[in-house]
Amino acid sequence: MNAPFKPGSNREPFNAFVCDDDTLELIRLVANDLGWPIEKCNKGGLRNAVQTLSVSASPNILFVDMSESGDPINDINALAEVCEPGTVVIAAGQVNDVRLYRDLLSSGIQDYLLKPLSIDQVRDSLAQAQAMLTAPKHADGAGDKPHHMLAVVGVRGGVGASMVSTSLAWAFSEQAGRQTALLDLDVHFGTGALTLDLEPGRGLIDAIDNPSRIDGLFIERAMVRASDKLSLLSAEAPIHQPVLTDGSAFFQLEEELRNAFEMTIVDIPRQVLIPFPHLVSEAGTIVLVSDVTLASARDTIRLLSWFKQNVPGARVLLVANKFQSTVGELSRKEFESSIERSVDVVIPFDPKLVSQAAKLGKPYAELCKGTKAGQVWNQLMRNILEGADADPDDVVAATAKSKDKDKGGSLLGKIGGLGSMLSKKGAKQ
Ligand SMILES: Nc1ncnc2c1ncn2[C@@H]1O[C@H](COP(=O)(O)OP(=O)(O)OP(=O)(O)O)[C@@H](O)[C@H]1O
Ligand SMILES: [Mg+2]
Repeated sequence: MNAPFKPGSNREPFNAFVCDDDTLELIRLVANDLGWPIEKCNKGGLRNAVQTLSVSASPNILFVDMSESGDPINDINALAEVCEPGTVVIAAGQVNDVRLYRDLLSSGIQDYLLKPLSIDQVRDSLAQAQAMLTAPKHADGAGDKPHHMLAVVGVRGGVGASMVSTSLAWAFSEQAGRQTALLDLDVHFGTGALTLDLEPGRGLIDAIDNPSRIDGLFIERAMVRASDKLSLLSAEAPIHQPVLTDGSAFFQLEEELRNAFEMTIVDIPRQVLIPFPHLVSEAGTIVLVSDVTLASARDTIRLLSWFKQNVPGARVLLVANKFQSTVGELSRKEFESSIERSVDVVIPFDPKLVSQAAKLGKPYAELCKGTKAGQVWNQLMRNILEGADADPDDVVAATAKSKDKDKGGSLLGKIGGLGSMLSKKGAKQ
């Protein structure tokens, strides 16, 4: 309910639903002082609030009296179902219990006032709610950065797409100080939570089961916090249960994450991307992760071509992971000439630090901090942000330029080129 405020929406500034005449009088007095219409202060308490908001737009600030509520947490949850994201809710009641207070706050209530109410107490609380709405989205000043969505896709299984996703999530949140969401759409086998040493929770499964429930409040509740700046939505769905979705839950999640965070990183398995290409249509950057092998070269060609057809204008950065200069299957040059474009960032094969990170339950990039390997993550972040902060026309131009390098020709032709390149490689050996 106190999810990010959407400016420009046509909302009432204030609604109140109280249980008794004294409270009504007091609330009307304060509302009048603050310049809000007093006719929006009603009797009827929490139940009336739920009924009214189920058929009308939610106000910016909502005051609810819970004195007549037998099960406050349950009733607040019912309110959450009908209350649009962005509304700041202040509750009042007669129960003086710190556990209830905490539970209410964690349900998204901004403040809980103990009755009988004093006029100063109510005025302070409402003024604070108003200040919250007019303040920048993130009090730490990071909220003025435009949102950027990053989609990470591996060209084949096991090339390191999830390693790159979790590492970038850590780097953007901890090093660039951005409020970051990591959405792991590998519903059965995702490793986002495992890598960050977290329990995945039920959030993603609930979202898939009930896409209509996805809103700002849902996001706030469902996301698992890895740190102050990094939150995760993932699942470990039972493997006997197929994921039944038309993709609407995934789109809706992307939409809500865009409202709530400064950076969204979506780890998208190819088998999810293919049926739902629009999942990447809003992505500012697509990071395509590959290893430097023949099979990956073939699939990089195929995926680049797929992006070109399905999300024209998408900005694709190519990351070559697990690179080994001496014993690798292909050299960087061979790989690049076969795919007819250059690799943007190369991440070396680094089993030592990767396994250390796994044992510590930390992303690989965190372990790279302060080492030479850490430069790779700074470079990748810079590449991503350059595109994010640049004029969109410039990004399109840059993308077009890199596409110009692709000299066209059929996919088969390209694979044929790759074959001849490989025979040259064979001849050298
Ligand atoms: N640069 C690297 N050096 C060494 N090992 C790496 C490197 N990058 C990733 N790995 C390891 O490779 C394995 C696969 O990585 P990861 O799970 O990130 O790949 P993926 O592309 O997401 O796989 P999947 O197709 O299962 O989603 C993991 O054990 C990971 O720790
Ligand atoms: Mg993965």
